[in-house]
Amino acid sequence: MRKKIVVGNWKMNTSVEEAINLLVDINQFIEDEIAIVCVPFTHIVTSIELAKNNLSVGAQNVSEYEDGAYTGEVSARMLKSIGVDYTIVGHSERRQFFYETNETIAKKINQLLKEKVTPIFCCGEPLNERETENHLKYVENQLEQSLFHLSKEEVQNVMIAYEPIWAIGTGKTASPKEAQNVHAHIRNLLSQKYGENTAHEITILYGGSVKPENAKELFECEDIDGALVGGASLKAESFTDIILAL
Ligand code: PGA
Repeated sequence: MRKKIVVGNWKMNTSVEEAINLLVDINQFIEDEIAIVCVPFTHIVTSIELAKNNLSVGAQNVSEYEDGAYTGEVSARMLKSIGVDYTIVGHSERRQFFYETNETIAKKINQLLKEKVTPIFCCGEPLNERETENHLKYVENQLEQSLFHLSKEEVQNVMIAYEPIWAIGTGKTASPKEAQNVHAHIRNLLSQKYGENTAHEITILYGGSVKPENAKELFECEDIDGALVGGASLKAESFTDIILAL
């Protein structure tokens, strides 16, 4: 179901002790607002114990395999067994540094859906694709190869995060108009593939240098349902200011 939501992506930051302090601070600021923090694997159990109200704890990655001899991997079933309901998949850093392909990401989404964990599927173009005005096609291809094998029922359990790579961690944000344009395109593609009603039920988040100063104008756009926040989610005050801007 479509949700207005802010998701924090802590990436490979914080010790468990720092995470506890951050969560205690976030808890103080929020009341009934719905938010998710995607923390490192090592922090999940402690974070779930600490998170209160409508704060959920998610993971940042999952194995494409079900179980077996895959040293160092964490399966969807393992995540589910400790109470994880959301997991980021296909983040551009995983594509860039760990060579994840659209096909691998499709398999990860399948594993998560099998365990009823909501995938937060990331897509978005690098700078050269934006500069050559190929960004819509680029994102379309990512959706086709990682998502469009899903049935209508399955796709409704996926959240999408559009994150232009040139805006991640760079301080450069897509303007609300640029972001809305891609979000509308994504919703339109979903509509063509699954029908208008289904397309309107899917949450599409924007990510890439979202901060308290730019959150509100992004959230005012028709097809932007919230944000996936990296840097600004590591400070309780900026993260909660973004949540409160929804
Ligand atoms: P950023 O990261 O907010 O630091 O740009 C966003 C993300 O990578 O999800």
